[in-house]
Amino acid sequence: MPPRKSPPTEVLLDVLEALPPGQRLWVRGAGRSLYPLLRGGDSVRVLRCGPGAMSRGDVALVRQGRQLVAHVVVSTEPWATASLVGGMDPPGGVTLGRVVAVRRGQWVLPLPRPFRPAMWMTQQALSAAWARPESRVVYRHVRDFFFSGWSRPLRRRLVGPLDVRLLRTDDLDALLAFAGEQLVVSPGFLRRQLRERWGLPEPDRRGAAAGAFDAQGRLHGFAWVDSYRQEALPLDGFWVRSLVVAPRARRMGVATRLLGCLMAEARRQGEERLYADIDDDNTASLRTFGGMGFRPSSPELTWRTNLAWDAAGRTKALVVMERELPP
Ligand SMILES: CC(C)(COP(=O)(O)OP(=O)(O)OC[C@H]1O[C@@H](n2cnc3c(N)ncnc32)[C@H](O)[C@@H]1OP(=O)(O)O)[C@@H](O)C(=O)NCCC(=O)NCCS
Repeated sequence: MPPRKSPPTEVLLDVLEALPPGQRLWVRGAGRSLYPLLRGGDSVRVLRCGPGAMSRGDVALVRQGRQLVAHVVVSTEPWATASLVGGMDPPGGVTLGRVVAVRRGQWVLPLPRPFRPAMWMTQQALSAAWARPESRVVYRHVRDFFFSGWSRPLRRRLVGPLDVRLLRTDDLDALLAFAGEQLVVSPGFLRRQLRERWGLPEPDRRGAAAGAFDAQGRLHGFAWVDSYRQEALPLDGFWVRSLVVAPRARRMGVATRLLGCLMAEARRQGEERLYADIDDDNTASLRTFGGMGFRPSSPELTWRTNLAWDAAGRTKALVVMERELPP
């Protein structure tokens, strides 16, 4: 049986790189890199070998910086890998081995070598389709249709009841699995914040993270509040960050409950207001915050927030909203 849990990515990388050629290991942490074949929280079985032992259509486990990705080999000379849906990888990754199976929950899908031509052709077809802007628009419409109100009763039954509460340090595994699937925040940052700030018991807790957990302890929604000074941004007060609900659990009031939980905790920590910065074209988020009583902040704070983010390299215009926290 494959292991249920994997060590953190840093440890895994060291273990993998020390593994002799020909050995196999189950690895979790390649995120959504082979989406939709591989989703956050899935594991891959990797056979340790170099690029010389691989051919077009194999799936290679590649280290890009401190990140692991499982991508299709699209050419061996020159060596090139690419995601299943999307573009080619930048050069410079280190090939750690060949993926021989994928595991999701109880299911193990072997990737035998005769599968290679099919994998290569699928990658080529999907990438070509994805490169056309109209395909992406159609994809977004289809996705929005499936995750809108009409499918809510079905999704509610699939997801089951959700418990919305503050995260503790022992929620790290669930948080990293959700982050791999839904967030662009680095696992190292989340791990540090949870251990050193959000997950501490009262009265040591600083900032806070909230999650929506199902009966199996899986996260379906997440958000945190903390000071931007943590990230060296010159903005005072507590800000709502990374509010994300998995598509399967949207329009069920999860974001509303997460915000309610975080507002109560921010108030308990002595904050009198809570702030949020939202992409100006993010209707779902603007409405969610509006529904929770957040109102547009002053033009001065909006300008300062945009300036701070511009300096940090972000280009999208942000709407700033705030609300007073009831005593
Ligand atoms: C924004 C987001 C967090 C909302 O999560 P959610 O759990 O679906 O929100 P809720 O169910 O609590 O919705 C609250 C209200 O917001 C509004 N709303 C939420 N999603 C909406 C959508 N897609 N379109 C229009 N209104 C929407 C509705 O008024 C809704 O109330 P209703 O369902 O009773 O009509 C979710 O869509 C998401 O994760 N989006 C991607 C990540 C993101 O943009 N995060 C925000 C970063 S600032």
